[in-house]
Amino acid sequence: MKALVCILLLLETFVFVVQQQVDGGLNENEISQQISSEDGRQNPPQTDTLRAEASTDSHQYCDLGIPDIHAALRELTASVTEQKENIRELTATVTEQKENIRELTATVTEQKENIRELTATDTEQKEINRALETQLREQQTFILEELKKKNEDREIAFSASLLESGEGYTGPFPTEFTLTYRNVFTNIGNAYNPITGVFTAPLKGAYMFRISVFGVGPTTSAASIYKNGKHVVMAYTNQPQSYLHSSNGVVLILEVGDVVYVRLYPNTRILDNWNNHSTFSGFLLFALREDNLCKM
Ligand SMILES: *[C@@H]1O[C@H](CO)[C@@H](O)[C@H](O)[C@H]1NC(C)=O
Repeated sequence: MKALVCILLLLETFVFVVQQQVDGGLNENEISQQISSEDGRQNPPQTDTLRAEASTDSHQYCDLGIPDIHAALRELTASVTEQKENIRELTATVTEQKENIRELTATVTEQKENIRELTATDTEQKEINRALETQLREQQTFILEELKKKNEDREIAFSASLLESGEGYTGPFPTEFTLTYRNVFTNIGNAYNPITGVFTAPLKGAYMFRISVFGVGPTTSAASIYKNGKHVVMAYTNQPQSYLHSSNGVVLILEVGDVVYVRLYPNTRILDNWNNHSTFSGFLLFALREDNLCKM
């Protein structure tokens, strides 16, 4: 726009100068007539009137000392054409810039959209993280509870003496006899049954068992720890008189459902009273992983 104004100003100045130069009574029409008459001099005259005017004007023209106005106008026309070209070019540049601005605006809008989307994604992520955290906490709680349950399962220990009350002998019998230790001190996990006298392993592990037998001579006192029908260790004591006492113990690897109990040896007897001399105890030392089954 600035360029355009400059050109217009230039043009006006130029026209003003020319007017100043030809200032001697020539108006626009007369100038054009002069141009025509000059043309007439170069080319064959078209009308008589023109020819007549030309003869008088050419004289006046020269007298005024005006430089070749025809050439000046040609120059001016060329300049105008050039300026028009410049304007066209500027207009094209402006159009191009407008296009660029449009494109930039579009890009900015797009970026804004992206930011909006990213913000939305971020919010979504936070939501997901919160959900994951909750889930993790729930899982941790679940695992802890499961572990607690497992540990509760692993709390296995029992201890009992033979007689619930009073004093008395058990035996002698001609064959082996399963002892039922009825005076229960401890039975965590209830793996020991005081009715049958049998301990049943609730899980695979290493278990410790021990027995203590008490008697009065000369009858022998002897009992064995049995695992699934086979005797493992024996506590045996024999002397002609006075009190007899013996004990033994064993660590056994038991599978789930394995049974352990105590049997009185044939033709022997054991004594128990309020002092709880004859006892049977057992407890889990530690659990063992079951084959082909991964337990926590
Ligand atoms: C034997 O066991 C019973 C029952 O648990 C108990 O009351 C008693 O005090 C025990 N005897 C001794 C000498 O500790």
